[in-house]
Amino acid sequence: MTEPRKLVIAIDGPAGAGKSTIASRLARKLGYVNLESGAMYRALALKAIMNDISFDDADALLLLAEKSKIELQPQIDGNRVLLDTEDVSRRIRERDVTEAASRVSVHPAVRAWMVARQRDMGVNGGVIMEGRDIGTVVFPNADLKVFLDADPTVRAERRIEQVQAKDPAAAKALVDDLKRRDQRDATRTASPLAPAADAIVLDSSKLGIDDVMARITELIAERTAAAAHE
Ligand code: DC
Repeated sequence: MTEPRKLVIAIDGPAGAGKSTIASRLARKLGYVNLESGAMYRALALKAIMNDISFDDADALLLLAEKSKIELQPQIDGNRVLLDTEDVSRRIRERDVTEAASRVSVHPAVRAWMVARQRDMGVNGGVIMEGRDIGTVVFPNADLKVFLDADPTVRAERRIEQVQAKDPAAAKALVDDLKRRDQRDATRTASPLAPAADAIVLDSSKLGIDDVMARITELIAERTAAAAHE
């Protein structure tokens, strides 16, 4: 018997909806690789910070991207991110880089560069790619597209818990950051955050991780069966 074809699974949605947790669990379960496309935008944003390049200068950012080596190495608990061979996995999660990533990602030229790289990574299937435009732009023919959403208040609470922001000022700053990022990611002209027409929208506000996993596992089983008949 031939091996079943390995699928391409797109998981899109806003920050804090649970994409990374779900994607890495699914990857482990299926033996797929989990690729966080956001980490690539974050790595470029970090390089812009290090080189004092304006987040508004699309030409300079593209040049910078072309000179950069951004690698995602899937690990059991997320992606190890290398920028020009340096491990920046932790640094790119910091607040300044988070904000900068949302700003550099508005530029169509930067996005085109990222999309080309992301497509190369998924060419052989067996990939769960998470981001904002995976189902709409990067893999419009993905076998399964999930748009994972959640109420903004719930997403903010999850972030506060994740980074263990204890004092109210830090928590408020997190909520403000999230709102600003949501607004920018969803209203930019180039590939704004939106579900693909054929995406399955799951609202995780009232669902636990196990519920979301169960629903997506069902969907994967359906798609795997469909792929076997192709
Ligand atoms: O998923 P994340 O929080 O690591 O993403 C960081 C930023 O990168 C986010 O604010 C928007 C941008 N991004 C994007 O525009 N397209 C993607 N596919 C992934 C992330």
